[in-house]
Amino acid sequence: MPTVRSFAKINLGLAIGPARPDGFHALRTVYQTIGLNDIITVTARKGSGIEIRSADARVPTDATNTCHKVVERALHSLRTSARVTIEIEKRLPVQGGLGGASANAVATLIALERALKKTLPQEERLRIAAEVGSDLPVFLVGGTVLGIDRGQVVYPLPDLPSMPCVIALPAVGVSTPKAFADWDELMTGQDAGGGKLTDSGGSDRIERFGHALSAWLSGISGASARSRGRAENPLLDLVRTGIENDFERVVFPQYPELRDIKGVLERAGALYASLSGSGSALYGLYRTRMAAERAARKLKGFGVTAQVTSTVTRAQYWKRLQVSSS
Ligand code: C5P
Repeated sequence: MPTVRSFAKINLGLAIGPARPDGFHALRTVYQTIGLNDIITVTARKGSGIEIRSADARVPTDATNTCHKVVERALHSLRTSARVTIEIEKRLPVQGGLGGASANAVATLIALERALKKTLPQEERLRIAAEVGSDLPVFLVGGTVLGIDRGQVVYPLPDLPSMPCVIALPAVGVSTPKAFADWDELMTGQDAGGGKLTDSGGSDRIERFGHALSAWLSGISGASARSRGRAENPLLDLVRTGIENDFERVVFPQYPELRDIKGVLERAGALYASLSGSGSALYGLYRTRMAAERAARKLKGFGVTAQVTSTVTRAQYWKRLQVSSS
């Protein structure tokens, strides 16, 4: 009965480009896995059918669940059949912005392979994950990851050292498709009104994000070669490139309390604070665990649910993923 941890992610910056003919948006983001996790157990027996169990009533147990979609595709790809049971122990908040459902689906794929004692080539895993959702493939890499295209094309980046992190969980839900639609409207308005955009729908933004990231990457590889021991934290260097989450520009005006929460995280000493994905989760990165705990207490004082965790590097991700295989 393979049991695995399903870690969440945050987005260190997210630039939205123009809407594409397929309805998706081009984007650029840096994903970072974090320590908050659910627990997924998969069993595979003779027969057929997929059963999902969870004590959390908010978890769909039918074919709409991303775990279900991944298992269907994986069995097909492995040319095998089995009666598969997926147990989802929800510890993560069922909250937008942290990729919880996507992480569950990838953890299910990993546990399924172990249950069947069969493996898919990584390329095939990535294909299945990308087909089920834009946010899934990052969880086949872990650590610090560049996401391009619609977010599903992922490249491992040099890992940033693990950092204390506060996740704020406001009690509002944000619809991702609506946030994208609001972004399109904002861009159209700017085009017509201020004429600030020089191209259709902001492809300059994703280009700028690419340049900033490329400069950062050249910097950290150059710095490590030239001046090892420079006290600088590569994460601080990344933040100083000015990467932002574009969703803040459409989500904050609609939910001003989210902007206030970002302010609390910043005033509590965050090195960087941001909305994660389209929200409503926000996060702050802190120099020390104590600072993170202080920030979480401040948020709780304002009645906002908050959890202290830390970012998870690629090595930690794969080491901690496995709970048991008995
Ligand atoms: O891929 P995923 O199922 O997570 O996407 C959910 C919805 O978010 C899509 O149907 C689309 O409306 C929107 N989306 C988008 N551009 C992206 C990713 C998602 O417009 N790059």
